[in-house]
Amino acid sequence: MTQDEMKKAAGWAALEFVQDNSIVGVGTGSTVNHFIDALGTMKDRIEGAVSSSEASTERLKAMGIPVFDCNQVDKLDIYVDGADEITAHKAMIKGGGAALTREKIVAAIADTFVCIIDDTKQVELLGKFPLPVEVIPMARSYVARELAKLGGRPVYRQGVITDNGGQILDVHDLQITDPQALETKINGIAGVITVGLFAHRGADVVIMGTPEGAKRID
Ligand code: 5RP
Repeated sequence: MTQDEMKKAAGWAALEFVQDNSIVGVGTGSTVNHFIDALGTMKDRIEGAVSSSEASTERLKAMGIPVFDCNQVDKLDIYVDGADEITAHKAMIKGGGAALTREKIVAAIADTFVCIIDDTKQVELLGKFPLPVEVIPMARSYVARELAKLGGRPVYRQGVITDNGGQILDVHDLQITDPQALETKINGIAGVITVGLFAHRGADVVIMGTPEGAKRID
């Protein structure tokens, strides 16, 4: 099985969490794109979706799935999204696709975070994947200096403007032993919009695509 086939297996397996007549929280990325394709096959049984990015919104609409503004929805049963890295405790690094802020917002209103990954995403320690931090553009250099003080090596993701008008610093060389503490610390730096650590609100269930098919980890 290729990595994309494993992503596809995970994306389609996530359909088991979708309730009839519900509004589904939808993340961003190549694994989620498979989930959106799968969701399209049951579009007449759901009310619609809340999306975490313009890219996912476009794909959902192309499938004929109505997309609701997050402000119109109090709560979601599920939020389905991928991850760049995930630990056994279900803490994650996200934001490889620069959608981390909206992902964190939609995840926050969901009862259950269903994380869909291929088996390359599981790690013992977060940090090999550079940690994305979305920043207000005028704060970029200041935030980069503060991140360097924490032992990281921030690299400006050139040419990327997020859906919120932010910029991204990717922080290399971190070994994240206490993800919750680091999430709190980085969120406290002036000018940070969001850090791509999802530790305070991690995943609840993981569906992992493997060469043997999709495996569920509760
Ligand atoms: C986007 C994300 C994605 O969930 C993450 O990058 C995983 O992407 P993919 O499914 O393409 O491997 O956080 O901001």
